Amino acid sequence: MITEIDCVALDDQDPLAGEAAKYHLPEGVLYFAGNSLGALPFAAQQRVAEIIRDEWGEKLVGGWNSAGWYSSPARVGAKIAQLIGANADEVTVTDSTSVNLFKSIIAAMGLSTHRKVCLTDREIFPTDLYIMQGIEKLLRDRFTLKAVRRNSILDEIDDDMGLLVLSHVDYRSGDVFDMQSITRRVHEAGGLVLWDLCHSAGIFDIRLNEVQADFAVGCGYKFLNGGPGAPSFVYVAKRHHENITQPLTGWMGHANPFEFDESYQSATGIRRMLCGTPSVVAMGCLEAAIDELLPVSIQAIQEKSRKLTRLFIELMKQRCGNFGFTLISSENDAIRGSQISYTHEHGDALMRALIARNVIGDFRAPDCVRFGVSPLYLSYTDIWQAVEVIKMVMETEVWRDYLGLKKEPVT
Ligand SMILES: Cc1ncc(COP(=O)(O)O)c(C=O)c1O
Repeated sequence: MITEIDCVALDDQDPLAGEAAKYHLPEGVLYFAGNSLGALPFAAQQRVAEIIRDEWGEKLVGGWNSAGWYSSPARVGAKIAQLIGANADEVTVTDSTSVNLFKSIIAAMGLSTHRKVCLTDREIFPTDLYIMQGIEKLLRDRFTLKAVRRNSILDEIDDDMGLLVLSHVDYRSGDVFDMQSITRRVHEAGGLVLWDLCHSAGIFDIRLNEVQADFAVGCGYKFLNGGPGAPSFVYVAKRHHENITQPLTGWMGHANPFEFDESYQSATGIRRMLCGTPSVVAMGCLEAAIDELLPVSIQAIQEKSRKLTRLFIELMKQRCGNFGFTLISSENDAIRGSQISYTHEHGDALMRALIARNVIGDFRAPDCVRFGVSPLYLSYTDIWQAVEVIKMVMETEVWRDYLGLKKEPVT
């Protein structure tokens, strides 16, 4: 039987307990949506104000050189590289994850033109699937999308497959794919792998170089805390740099953008994944957030994530076992991401009831409630308190007040 006192004791021993002071959270809020939008780092708030006032305001267009705006994709990329086990010159920051998926998938498939199949999990995050469907329409007989059930993916890897696209952590259940063994298996079959790291960057001790991953993308706004719509990162293993061609040949990926040549000539290295002008304010916000994260041990973050999510599962069993929740996240620590998800017949209504009571998770249609767990600003007693609110909402059936309400555009 776990008690509130046990949770307080865990907080007392938590090596990351001091991190929460770096983030702003509204008074009384228990925030379980850091897997969707990370909390605001105070440093980012300050940095954005500085960029606007001291750089844009004072340096004007000169800021591209003197404030390092032009070099920011590479600079911030090099910092993110440290979080995902890549070399500094293998990562750049640009565009959105969806756009980086488009560029990377076409670039990857271009490396083995005789292999036309792009294999994926059919329950992967919809944008990944939609981008692949769009590429299939664009490239017609040069690209065949094969979206299969998750448990049959490994059986579908064959010598027609050029690329496997997988999300490291499933957005719905939080289940984690074994990056090392899957990458090895694909390479043995002569294919390439692209990992979507949206739900694992900043949480897991990812080692892209060690597992010899080929491509990866991820967003800046979840566990990296880079702010709403923060720019995305893209990784390409160095061994592929000189052979890839990406389709969005904007001037920032040109070898010499300020020569204003009439024809496109690709930059060398990871810079060829760039397309247009970086979003400087958003980039500054992301960089400040990454600077907060870098000194923290990623192993300690991963370890706390496992402990917090395990506590959540155990407390839900203990205190909310009879309320119709079905756990869809794994109980196995090794394959659980930093979120806990349940299906529930009245998931939408009960999540609205929780949000109205300051326990902020989210809902994924048709019936999934998700509780994202950021070890940087959540404590063990926060988990205790959140489960107590869930218990109260279920016992009193106050969630019934939220049945049949008009859907918000974002859930
Ligand atoms: C796995 C995954 N990929 C991609 C995205 C989103 O891509 P974008 O930043 O382009 O909206 C999400 C958003 O939640 C996601 O969970």
